[in-house]
Amino acid sequence: MSGLQLQHLEKIYDNNVQAVFNFNLDVKDGELIVLVGPSGCGKSTTLRMVAGLEDITKGKLIIDGNDVTQTPPKDRDIAMVFQNYALYGHMTVYENMAFSLMLRKESKNTIHQKVMAAAEILDLTSQLNKKPAQLSGGQRQRVAMGRAIVRTPKVFLFDEPLSNLDAKLRSSTRREILLLHQRLNATILYVTHDQTEALTLADRIVCMSMGHVQQIGTPLELYDDPSNLFVAGFIGLPPMNFFDVELRAGQAICKDFTVDLTPEEQKLLGWHEGKTVTMGVRPEHIVPGGTIPVDVISNENLGQNTLVNGMVGKHKITCKFREWCTYKYGDIVKVSFTKKHFFDRETTNSIR
Ligand SMILES: Nc1ncnc2c1ncn2[C@@H]1O[C@H](COP(=O)(O)OP(=O)(O)OP(=O)(O)O)[C@@H](O)[C@H]1O
Ligand SMILES: [Mg+2]
Repeated sequence: MSGLQLQHLEKIYDNNVQAVFNFNLDVKDGELIVLVGPSGCGKSTTLRMVAGLEDITKGKLIIDGNDVTQTPPKDRDIAMVFQNYALYGHMTVYENMAFSLMLRKESKNTIHQKVMAAAEILDLTSQLNKKPAQLSGGQRQRVAMGRAIVRTPKVFLFDEPLSNLDAKLRSSTRREILLLHQRLNATILYVTHDQTEALTLADRIVCMSMGHVQQIGTPLELYDDPSNLFVAGFIGLPPMNFFDVELRAGQAICKDFTVDLTPEEQKLLGWHEGKTVTMGVRPEHIVPGGTIPVDVISNENLGQNTLVNGMVGKHKITCKFREWCTYKYGDIVKVSFTKKHFFDRETTNSIR
């Protein structure tokens, strides 16, 4: 296994659409990187440039110390698993996994060993004689992964491999990918538009918007310390609440409520005294008890916690309380904020 470097990668398609701008990333050996962002932000394009399925318009791609920018896909020693895992329907599971090794003319013995080892990792040992049509969606997806594993490539690329699976299968297959990552110590680039998948899988997340990298960091870094409004709103579910507030004399003031700033926040925001900034508060950082009045619209019990949607004056707000609540439409619950984020309204960057 090996690391890879994406240096100043750009993609401009033939129709002059620029899908990726100046993408820089240093992937360490054995690291699991998740590219996340909304539809059309350039995730697949980036992955396909790494695979060699798209030309790199500008920039350099280094795998294992070698410049492979111009290297054809088959010589890059990369395996890609797609959302639509096209298995060979007329072949058994065993044959599907063995196929690429047979093309490589590896010995029968080696092929057998590799297929059996992959089947073991993926819990497919009892399915090897079946045809894909006799398998569930999750099993088929595992066969697709098996085909990649047997090749022991330098790098695995996954493009939304779980999006065709139902919620339960998605989380169990997600755990399998993590296991795979740990057992093979595999270097993985993984694409998804699902922030939960990114948070649960990644060693580091690359968050993209409109072709631009917004932030690179560990899941905790992106959650705790988002670099701008986009990342703040994209990572975390339900999303962060935003309010425009004026900073004055140690308080954040908007039409509908006023909150006191902590000494640390006052120090951080000193430069912005008298200005209007965007304040972000995650639903889980809102607690009952306080001075901010929320007009309750709905109360959703999720078991361990309750989502309360409401209004603070003209602002929509979503709170996630850590108890079983039974508020009703029309109730007023007074809340306070346990953690706040602040963003410059012009640059949308986090004020840190
Ligand atoms: N072959 C192509 N020719 C021209 N433009 C393309 C081509 N493929 C993708 N694009 C454009 O490039 C941009 C990025 O597309 P890409 O497929 O990389 O997005 P994505 O982040 O993978 O989105 P999704 O989550 O929907 O898969 C989009 O604006 C898309 O329309
Ligand atoms: Mg895509």
